This record gives sequence, structure tokens and C-alpha cells, in this order.
Amino acid sequence: MPTPSISAVLDVLRTVVDPASGKDLVRLGWIRELAVDDFSIRFTLWMDAPTHVFAGDAQEACRQALSEEFGDAVTIEVGMDSEMIGLGEGLSIDGQDAHAVPGDGITNIIAVASGKGGVGKSTVASNLAVALAQNGYDVGLVDVDIYGPSIPTMFGLESAKPRVNEKRRIIPVEQFGVKLLSMGFLVDQDKAVIWRGPMVTSAVRQFLGDTEWGELDFLIMDLPPGTGDIQLTIVQTVPLNGAVIVSTPQRVALADARKGVAMFDQVNVPVLGIVENMAYFTPPELPDNRYYLFGEGGARALASDLDVPFLGELPLVQAIRENADEGTPVVTDRSEAVGDAFRSLASNLVQAVEVRNAARPATQKIDILRG
Ligand SMILES: Nc1ncnc2c1ncn2[C@@H]1O[C@H](COP(=O)(O)OP(=O)(O)OP(=O)(O)O)[C@@H](O)[C@H]1O
Ligand SMILES: [Mg+2]
Repeated sequence: MPTPSISAVLDVLRTVVDPASGKDLVRLGWIRELAVDDFSIRFTLWMDAPTHVFAGDAQEACRQALSEEFGDAVTIEVGMDSEMIGLGEGLSIDGQDAHAVPGDGITNIIAVASGKGGVGKSTVASNLAVALAQNGYDVGLVDVDIYGPSIPTMFGLESAKPRVNEKRRIIPVEQFGVKLLSMGFLVDQDKAVIWRGPMVTSAVRQFLGDTEWGELDFLIMDLPPGTGDIQLTIVQTVPLNGAVIVSTPQRVALADARKGVAMFDQVNVPVLGIVENMAYFTPPELPDNRYYLFGEGGARALASDLDVPFLGELPLVQAIRENADEGTPVVTDRSEAVGDAFRSLASNLVQAVEVRNAARPATQKIDILRG
């Protein structure tokens, strides 16, 4: 019999499927407070509603699957917990009824951030979102960069205008299997440049909360560059599961990436990992050659120094930039080898999220910044 480990236990629990949604318990984020040693497996099954029809059966199904895999010598304890109030209900900001906060129906909200500008956040966020959708996840992508939204261009949707339904909620635009929303769809770019911080954050709150996302496994948020008030307010406005920090290998970028990690630490948002973009240059005619133009392995070293996962490195290749400018993220082109780098990044991220979800407390209170 194999000895239990966190990832081995999650692999087994991935075989237990909720019949209502057709999704397994790990993907649904139901496994919490997971603690594993050689002789015992303990966790809490966390459900969005205590009356969930699968509740009783799920507990038994988990126990059975785990004891089949790890044998009777391992003690298995499966607790239950659920959330009575949906995220976003009953919140008020400044005494007024706040707009709903996205959360209901969304399993994981992940911010893609960086300290320095232009390092490839939007490129990573777009390709990550499409790669996750290609792997069968329900994915949304939201561009909260009010001063320089890139998602409309990267998805070939410069003139898209999202519809509003009868409940006056925004319907995201769908492209390459991803539900998209960008500040660029809603705000006149010439006017937005003069907006001050508080206007930006209230607009962001409103457009995030008033959107009909439906059921999502992942909502990816493409943040504006920097670690200022705008970023801080955004990350405190939505219940983030974690953040992905993008950096290039240069020292100047790494110093800013470190500030990014510090910002998330300050607001208790776990950093799911660091991505090194433009890690090396590979010319199309010499696909096996790697030139480390900006130095080698800087972001990997930073990740290890800060004790956060390293999620992967992405090469500097012309196709990434060309596809971005043409409105087709490079992962949509199956003939581009670099797509594999993004797909492997996506699977590393899924793993990091699952491990993080499994470790987190069953009932979590979300602190909403007031004022
Ligand atoms: N790995 C790469 N290879 C080639 N070009 C890239 C790569 N990553 C990003 N780019 C290009 O670099 C430019 C900046 O990337 P991107 O817009 O994703 O950065 P950003 O961090 O979102 O910028 P900002 O801080 O302005 O939001 C874009 O033209 C993009 O196509
Ligand atoms: Mg960007």
C-alpha cells in the first residue's frame, strides 16, 4: 500500500465526483484543512450549502476511496462544514448597500500581478485563462487595468460591448472558451486617464460585483502594474484565493516582484507562485538554442528565497508578441511549441491552488475594506 501524501490524497479525492455538477471534490474546492501523515488522513468537506444533496454520500465515498488506496492501517477522519451565507451577501460599504462581491459560484479568484510594468502580466493572464479553459475548466478573465486595458486587444475584441441582462447585470463577452470582462469595454479610454484612485476603485468594485459570471472554477484578474493604493484596494475588495507574481529576470524587475509579494503578504493573500517571463530568447530558426539575455534563473532564486512556489519560465519569442497583437493568445495556436510552456504553467497553478485550498480553514471570513 502507498503511504499517504497531500498530493496522493488529492489524486484519490479527484475520483469522487458530485453528480449534480459533474465536478470532482478537489475541483469544487470542497477539501479543506487537509492534514496527512503516514498513519492518518484528516480533512473537512466544505460545502457551499449544508443541504447539499451529495453531502452524506460524499463523506462515505471519500472514506471508501481513500481506504481502498491506502489500506485499513491508515485512520481516515472526514469532518463536514458549510457556509450559510454566500459571499457578497449582506455587505455594506460606508453604510450603503455595497455591490455584490464576486464569489458566489466562483471557486477560485486569482490575481496576476507584478511590481514592475510591462513584464507580461496580461500575456500570462490571457494565455493562462485560455490554457485552463482548454483543460476543461470554467474560466473567467477580468482586466482591472483601467488606465491601460490590454485584454480587448489580446482577444481581438477592441469593439466589443458587453450586454446587460434584465437584472441590469453585465454579461461577460466570451472568446476562446473564456468569459471576459475588461474596463476597456466599459470606460472611454480618453476619460479614464484623468480618473483619481477612489473613482477607479469604486468603478472596479461595481463592475466586478455587477457581472453575471455564472459558475466558474477560476476567475483570473489581470492587475495594473505596481503595488500602490489601487492594487491594494482591489485585492481587498474581492475574496482572492491567491496571487501569481510575474517577473522578468533582471534585478530591477526582481526587486519590484519582491515588493509585490510583500504587498500580498500584508493583506494575507497567499502568493501561489512566481512566474519568470522572458526567461530566455529562442530564435525561431534555432529552436533548441536558449539565450539568457536578462540573466539566468533570477525569479526561480527569488521564489526559493521567499519560500513561494516557482510556477515556471516562459521564453521570449516573437510568436507570443505577434499573437497578442493579432488578438489570438499564443496557446490557441496548437502548432506553436511555446504553448506548452503556458499549459505547463496552468497545470502547476492548478496544483498550487488545490494544495492551498486543501490547507485552508473550512470557514473563512472575508474582510471587506470599508470606506
Ligand atoms: N514572453 C514573451 N515573448 C515575447 N513578447 C512578450 C512576452 N511576454 C510579453 N510580451 C510582449 O511584451 C509586451 C508587454 O506585455 P504585457 O502587456 O503582457 O505586459 P504587462 O505586464 O501586462 O504590462 P502592463 O504593466 O503595462 O500592464 C506585449 O507587447 C507582449 O506581447
Ligand atoms: Mg497589462
